Amino acid sequence: MKMDADYSRATDGATERGSDGLTVLGLETSCDETAASVVRLSAAGAQVLSSVIHSQIDDHAAYGGVVPEIAARSHVEMIDGVTRRAMAEAGLDWSALDGVAATAGPGLVGGVMVGLSYGKAAALARGLPLIAVNHLEGHAVSARLGAETTYPFLLLLVSGGHCQLLEVRGIGDMSRLGTTIDDAAGEAFDKIAKAMGLGYPGGPALEKLAASGDGSRFELPRALLGRKDCDFSFSGLKTAASRLAQTCETDQDRADLADAVQKAIGRQLAERSERAMKDYAEAHPELADGALKQPSAAREAVGQKERLFVVAGGVAANKTIRRTLEDLATKHGFTFLAPPMIYCTDNAAMIALAGAERLEKGLTSDIDVAARPRWPLDEARANVDPVHKKTGRKGAKA
Ligand code: KG4
Ligand code: ZN
Repeated sequence: MKMDADYSRATDGATERGSDGLTVLGLETSCDETAASVVRLSAAGAQVLSSVIHSQIDDHAAYGGVVPEIAARSHVEMIDGVTRRAMAEAGLDWSALDGVAATAGPGLVGGVMVGLSYGKAAALARGLPLIAVNHLEGHAVSARLGAETTYPFLLLLVSGGHCQLLEVRGIGDMSRLGTTIDDAAGEAFDKIAKAMGLGYPGGPALEKLAASGDGSRFELPRALLGRKDCDFSFSGLKTAASRLAQTCETDQDRADLADAVQKAIGRQLAERSERAMKDYAEAHPELADGALKQPSAAREAVGQKERLFVVAGGVAANKTIRRTLEDLATKHGFTFLAPPMIYCTDNAAMIALAGAERLEKGLTSDIDVAARPRWPLDEARANVDPVHKKTGRKGAKA
């Protein structure tokens, strides 16, 4: 399905990359990072000219999670300085830009409004096209910041707010294969880490602790075992692990539990990804076995693409999980790709790149485009088959 219906409009035609490519400023303010980046998309692929990220972790640490009001205020204070720095580091004048892209959702709406309003003002003042970008679409294209990646690909998007398997056919053209019916994987990491007395964000802290642990003595629940779909569930695991955290007495106990949690989350991600890989391979017999590593020139000569499995989002920064998924991909004949570590967690380079790809297709936005707290990538599927039955007035979540 096309996701651009309600927030993008086709301009007179696609924007040519030109000899020096399309250069886009991206802005990201949907959670607790104020970020700006300049990316150039040319025949050579995506080139990050600058990427500035101001993390608000210190502002929220005392509360054990992101406080929306504090986040929004901090974005207001930081967005101008962060953007000016991104422009200076790229060494460009505003006249060198072809467009301004800003995250328009999903996320904490107070923060989204700050970046989107700033983007609108910049686009208006400089006479540039505005591109409203879905934050998840940014994650979806983020692997393209590290390597030229062809469409289509199978995507596991694992972040603090989302956990989905998607078939990505191109920018704005994605179908959901599975999603979490309760918590996201990153959310499970964060909440379990909080119960264990680790800092925020919990994922990196838990990964560090797990390195010295052996989780084999802990039995954690396995969710949705009998189901044949690609959906996820982490709430049972979260509750069980949080209870076990209360019984931990020594540092070794905590390290062992961290290892058990990381393995349990990794196992579920792998199980569902494996199912999706089998379905995807069956549905796409035209794609070559990516693990065979045929010389790509030979493949290109006959125009054959390979099976690609991409992992993106904050949890993709977890090295153990990354390795598990890479082994799985190889086993099933997929080439494995993940963004460079710095582009796994929230950043504006992925927003600038998604913006540039949209601009190239002529998919720009009206200046009155609204910020959206909820915005599923595969909106058609989310409306027909919402995972959360009570969608409320904000609309379907996933
Ligand atoms: O993509 P992201 O920066 O923000 C969202 O869009 O949600 O993801 C943040 C999430 C947090 O839940 C964080 O704990 C998790 O990604 N995360 C990790 C690691 N690094 C970040 N989880 C596990 N291991 C990591 N190394
Ligand atoms: Zn994110």
